[in-house]
Amino acid sequence: MEVKERALGELQQAANLAELNDLRVKYLGKKGELTEIMKGMGKLSAEERPLLGQLANEVRDAIGAILEEKKEALEASALEAQLRSQTIDVTLPGRTLAKGNKHPLTQIIEQIEDIFIGLGFEIAEGPELETDYYNFEALNLPKDHPARDMQDSFYVTEDLLMRTHTSPNQARVMEAKQGEVPVKIICPGRVYRRDDDDATHSHVFTQIEGLVIGKDIRMSDLKGILLAFSREMFGDDVQIRLRPSFFPFTEPSAEVDVTCAVCKGKGCRVCKETGWLEILGSGMVHPKVLEMSGYDSEKYTGFAFGMGVERIAMLKYGIEDIRHFYNNDIRFLRQFNRR
Ligand code: PHE
Repeated sequence: MEVKERALGELQQAANLAELNDLRVKYLGKKGELTEIMKGMGKLSAEERPLLGQLANEVRDAIGAILEEKKEALEASALEAQLRSQTIDVTLPGRTLAKGNKHPLTQIIEQIEDIFIGLGFEIAEGPELETDYYNFEALNLPKDHPARDMQDSFYVTEDLLMRTHTSPNQARVMEAKQGEVPVKIICPGRVYRRDDDDATHSHVFTQIEGLVIGKDIRMSDLKGILLAFSREMFGDDVQIRLRPSFFPFTEPSAEVDVTCAVCKGKGCRVCKETGWLEILGSGMVHPKVLEMSGYDSEKYTGFAFGMGVERIAMLKYGIEDIRHFYNNDIRFLRQFNRR
């Protein structure tokens, strides 16, 4: 039958499922060629009819079989093409996500806090806008005391100023504790002084101060704690030394030096050939300060210390200008992307 040959030929040519479906409709559909032939069988004689009927059935089955076969083949190749177009090239480099890091000062503050928390200290924070009483008076610095000049201040009103150190926090904690011991705190925070900004001075900087009050607290305890801190911060091999100094809130007072991190004590430009770097101020809490905040100075003693965080960071990492911490130059900040 001519229709069969033509249909099979065309079916082989079908390039996709849509064409295949068109051919199915063309031959087997309601108005398809084969359907039309079968409809026309009524006009045939009784002898011819079964012959043609059988033939038509054979042709329909043959076309159906090829259609099915071809459909499967086309579906398989469509799937294959889809898989091929959707494969992932695992060798392509990934897109890196820009990852930020904490500001170096924040990192150092956290590092210092961790060291003191490990030594049993708690963290106490307080206001940056402070009263004259807590910033000075409660620390044995009455009005007109010449030592107030050590910390030139930004006054907001006659009685309110931007704190010049975080020691007022210590006075606040002592007062709140109402004579209870032990007190073992560190006070981190921003402080303000009327300084001209240069490579080593900033009118805003960061401090961490410590305070310990208890029974039989001695200067040797201060020394032990500060040596432990210095070794954690600057390395196991560093030494510290205490030099006599003066602070109105401590007596005796001492300036604390650590062996130069750069030359290990041999003497270099950084330590001005001394082998030592000054890192903080400290001393035994003045009895007047204890009394003013409600502690019996006959019963209890304590020590205090205070350090500039920027200075510690500058010494540890060899940073030559304090202003790097505030300018937010990305090239500087990126160097601290180490955590
Ligand atoms: N508060 C002092 C300062 O800011 C530092 C200090 C704290 C000194 C505690 C001695 C004891 O300069």
